Amino acid sequence: MNSHIHRIGVLTGGGDAPGLNAVIRAVVKTANTEYDWHVLGIEDSFEGLLQPGKVRALGMEAVRGILPRGGTILGTTNRGNPFQYPRETETGVRTEDISGDVIRRAFDFDIDAMVVIGGDGTLHIALEFQKRGLNLVGVPKTIDNDILLTDFTFGFDTAVNIAMEALDRLHTTAESHHRTIILEVMGREAGWIALRAGIAGGADIILIPEIPFEIEHIVEKIQKRERRGPDFNLIVAAEGAYPVGGMPVFQEQRLPGAAPRLGGIGEAVASQLRQQVDQEVRVTVLGYLQRGGTPTAYDRILASEFGVAAVHALARGEFGSMIAVQGTRIVTVPIAEAIAHPRFVPLDSPLITTALGLDISLGRTREEIRRMRQEQENVT
Ligand code: F6P
Repeated sequence: MNSHIHRIGVLTGGGDAPGLNAVIRAVVKTANTEYDWHVLGIEDSFEGLLQPGKVRALGMEAVRGILPRGGTILGTTNRGNPFQYPRETETGVRTEDISGDVIRRAFDFDIDAMVVIGGDGTLHIALEFQKRGLNLVGVPKTIDNDILLTDFTFGFDTAVNIAMEALDRLHTTAESHHRTIILEVMGREAGWIALRAGIAGGADIILIPEIPFEIEHIVEKIQKRERRGPDFNLIVAAEGAYPVGGMPVFQEQRLPGAAPRLGGIGEAVASQLRQQVDQEVRVTVLGYLQRGGTPTAYDRILASEFGVAAVHALARGEFGSMIAVQGTRIVTVPIAEAIAHPRFVPLDSPLITTALGLDISLGRTREEIRRMRQEQENVT
């Protein structure tokens, strides 16, 4: 056990995900009961260390009843990297490095080590702090499930279930009105949510960034179904999906310090389909419903496992590591390796095989997908 630790800090960064509170609760309980450590909760990610009143003691009382609650009791932000902190000036926005202040404040609070719960953006920042001597362990969080070296991130299962339920509901209205309905889901550059929700919700067509689509194949699929009888269609489009030779669709509004936001592919596909198919085409953008609200049982358990494991990893002195689930085991992996690039759906994934076996169109012919898979295998 690491006898130098008496007090740890915990924070949540990046977009929220169902299960964050379950991690915080697990961290506090394990730190208290197994190690007798004090826990400080830092509000609104690393920035909270610099602002008055944003660091508070988290005892057992503070985490009572939070297991089923969505969001994060600590608040979060997905803007403001302390290494390139955006400041509005009269001449525009300029960035400055305030990381030294953050580290000094952490030491002022006698924080010996930290649990940092976040997605790839927050984990990148965490790694930089670790390199500068702020000892920490990362806990991967994202509904997008796009972090390397972990089979799942918590929040993902909840998002998939919400999207599946949306598809179930869209199914009945699409069928009644003989319409094609496109459900746009989150996932950034990865198609995990779209693929799993699409399979679970009985979609006819699933568009993911890993397989750039051709509109003709979508039209063909709709016409083929029409010939066989069903005169309605459900399409799931991952927000990062894009056509062959095209680009993903981004929203216009971009806030200082924030990453560009994907969104709009559903409407882009719909406007093309409207010119080529007889059916009415409608679009539903599921948006933040995927992130809000109570976590599923799976996410509560995974989040709890991650929180407990993070404290044990700190005690073993495994700083700079990230908690992960691989198969049935909870393990630690280097943060640096986990954030090397986003985790995409590999084309040999059983999910792709399953979708094709279920006659779900992925926006390309089977032959093309097989060829792409072959090319991917040759590269790796
Ligand atoms: O990382 C999770 C995620 O939900 C993405 O799927 C999505 O593109 C992004 O966050 C949007 O988040 P925000 O609008 O908060 O920046």
